[in-house]
Amino acid sequence: MSALTDPPPVARHRPSTESLRDRLPDFPWDRLEPYKKTAAAHPGGIVDLSVGTPVDPVPELIRKALVAAADSPGYPTVWGTPELRDAITGWAERRLGARDVTHRHVLPVVGSKELVAWLPTQLGLGPGDRVAYPRLAYPTYEVGARLARADHEAYDDPTRLDPRNLRLLWLNSPSNPTGRVLGKQELARIVSWAREHGVLVFSDECYIELGWESDPVSVLHPEVCGGSYEGIVAVHSLSKRSNLAGYRAAFLVGDPAVLGPLLEIRKHGGMMTPAPTQAAAVAALGDDTHVHEQRERYAARRSALRDALVRHGFRIEHSEASLYLWATRDESCWETVSHLAGLGILVAPGDFYGPAGERFVRVALTATDERVAAAVERL
Ligand SMILES: Cc1ncc(COP(=O)(O)O)c(C=O)c1O
Repeated sequence: MSALTDPPPVARHRPSTESLRDRLPDFPWDRLEPYKKTAAAHPGGIVDLSVGTPVDPVPELIRKALVAAADSPGYPTVWGTPELRDAITGWAERRLGARDVTHRHVLPVVGSKELVAWLPTQLGLGPGDRVAYPRLAYPTYEVGARLARADHEAYDDPTRLDPRNLRLLWLNSPSNPTGRVLGKQELARIVSWAREHGVLVFSDECYIELGWESDPVSVLHPEVCGGSYEGIVAVHSLSKRSNLAGYRAAFLVGDPAVLGPLLEIRKHGGMMTPAPTQAAAVAALGDDTHVHEQRERYAARRSALRDALVRHGFRIEHSEASLYLWATRDESCWETVSHLAGLGILVAPGDFYGPAGERFVRVALTATDERVAAAVERL
C-alpha cells in the first residue's frame, strides 16, 4: 500500500475501542453535574446523597491488618490465601447459614463491580445468549451483557421469562436502588424455576447486612437452595459492610462447577486481589462488631432522612433494606433532583436504574451525621 492510500494512523488504531465504547450507554452520572454545581452553591454547602460510597472510617482492626501486610513483594493469587478462603467459608456458614462451604465453593474478586461487568464475558456468553436482571437495577448488569455482546432484558418476575437461551439470571436482594428484599419463599421459587430450566443464577447480595424492616436471606440458605449449590452463586462485597470500597474486596460463594472455570479464566486474566487487601478482608470477615456499629450509624441517618423526606411531601416505597431510600413526589425524577439541588441536596434520579424509575429518586444514607443533619434541617 502506498503512503497515499494508507489510512491515517489515528483511524487505524481507533476502531476496536470505539466499537467497544459504542456498546455502552453514556456514563449517566455526567448528567448530574449541573445539579451538583447548583447544590454546591448552597451557602451551607452540598449534602451529597447521590452515590452509595461509604464515608465513615475504615475500622481500626482492618487498617491494622492492611498495614501488617504492607510488605508483600510477591504476586498474590487469584484464589486468595488459604486464610482468606477460610474466612469466607466461615463467614458464609456463620452469617448466611450456608452449609458445607469448602474452598472450592469460594472465589475472591477485585470488588464486585468488575465481576458484574465482566461475568458474561468470562462465562463465554455472546450474541444470542440472554442475560436478565431486575426491572430497576444497578446499571452494571446491563453493561456486562453489552460488553459480551449478549442480549439483555429486564424482568418483573424472573419466572415469567422465556428460559430459552437465558444463560444468566441476576438477582439483587436487598435491591439497589429500591431497597426491596426477596423473601425466602420467593427466592426458593426462583431458584427452583431456574434449575428446572438450566438457568444459571447469580445473586448479588452486597447489601445483605443492611436489613432494616426485614431480615434479608441469602440464596445459599438451605431453605432457599435445598442444601445444594448447583447452578447458584452469591456475590458478596466488603465495600458497604465494612466501609472498604476503597480496598476493592468482594467474593463469590456457590457452585464449584461455575467457580472452577471462572478461577482459571481469571488467573489467565491476572484478576488478583492485592495481598494487603486480602489480609484486610480476613480481619473484616472475622469481626461482626464493626458491622453492628456501622449499621447503627446508617439506621440513625435513615430514620432522620426518612422522616424529613415524608414531612417534605415525599412518599417512600420499599426501602426495607440497603443503603438507600427510594422516594417520590409523583413527578419526574429530574424535577425532584432539581428541587432538592436548590436546597443543596444532591440525589440520584431514578431513571439511572431503568425507565421504570423515572418518577423516583434514590437517596443514599452515605453522608456524615453532620451532613445528614444539614439535609434534615433544610427539608
Ligand atoms: C447492587 C450492587 N452490586 C455491586 C456493587 C459494586 O460494589 P463493589 O464493587 O464496591 O463491591 C454495587 C455498588 O454500589 C451495587 O450497588
